[in-house]
Amino acid sequence: MRPKILVARRVFPEIVARLQQHFEVDHNEGDEVLGAGLAQRLQGCAAVFITGSERIDAALLDACPGLKAVCAMTVGYNNVDVAACTARGVLVSNAPDVLTETTADFGFALMMATARRLAESEHFLRRGEWNRWAIDMFAGSDIHGATLGILGMGRIGQAIARRGHLGFGMPVIYHNRSRLAPGIEAELGARWVDKQTLLREADHLVLVLPYSPESHHIIGATELALMKPSATLTNIARGGIVDDAALAVALAQRTIAAAGLDVFEGEPQLNPALLTVPNIVLTPHIASASIPTRHAMANLAVDNLIAFFTGGKPPTALNPEVHDRAT
Ligand code: 8YV
Repeated sequence: MRPKILVARRVFPEIVARLQQHFEVDHNEGDEVLGAGLAQRLQGCAAVFITGSERIDAALLDACPGLKAVCAMTVGYNNVDVAACTARGVLVSNAPDVLTETTADFGFALMMATARRLAESEHFLRRGEWNRWAIDMFAGSDIHGATLGILGMGRIGQAIARRGHLGFGMPVIYHNRSRLAPGIEAELGARWVDKQTLLREADHLVLVLPYSPESHHIIGATELALMKPSATLTNIARGGIVDDAALAVALAQRTIAAAGLDVFEGEPQLNPALLTVPNIVLTPHIASASIPTRHAMANLAVDNLIAFFTGGKPPTALNPEVHDRAT
């Protein structure tokens, strides 16, 4: 008998077709998160294909004792309690690498849009307010030659640094728990600094670190106050890393010049104060959303599912010991 799996959100038809070659597939074809209904829907399932929105915690695992694998199509997995899964012998996989360049492209684009006031000027135009030219009309700050600051220097952070260094001649400073190897620092033109120096010296600060209890509100009022009044802040990491209420105040008071946000605390809801400030660019968590990359992400989750159930090695397991124990 083929194992039964749940695809927790609507995915591309070819992803479902690929899964159907190996599994009995229950596909939630809606774009709504199953939420409280997830445990019920998982009864009888051996695995679940998730996005970044489903919460997999100890209570859910205890309610679904048949579950053997949780495969996410996202690189971030703060919605999954990996330790609880490991303790119960449940494999967890994520989807790194395949979205690195696409997400870095978007982070760079959002940073540029923020510095050059793209959204603000478009809104002005759409309101029909453009009736003359002015020397400082929507004058922003430069990208080329400006200091790029990166908080979190994993794969995506490095891909952004590479764009800044090679494409735009930006000096790159970064802060991360671990330093990059000297050869990689040299290749990226990147210099490790402490967090305070990063905040003080960056002209454009980009956040690319994972969400965890330690990174909750890592950028709040105190940190924003250290930044240059001319600086921009771009968050493509996770909601909750920035204190959105404090950011709205900093933007209103021009403690910093502008912000670009792709992720929000409590998304898809937004702190309403963010909508009242003009110096902001807002996008709905789409940094990885190119069509080829969304396919690659979903296919990587499928690769993990198929490998796990056919005795192969799941390519991007977060707790490979679970698989090793079972084989
Ligand atoms: C997802 C992401 O699109 O991979 C991640 O960690 O943040 C994005 O690529 C997002 O999580 C949607 O659920």
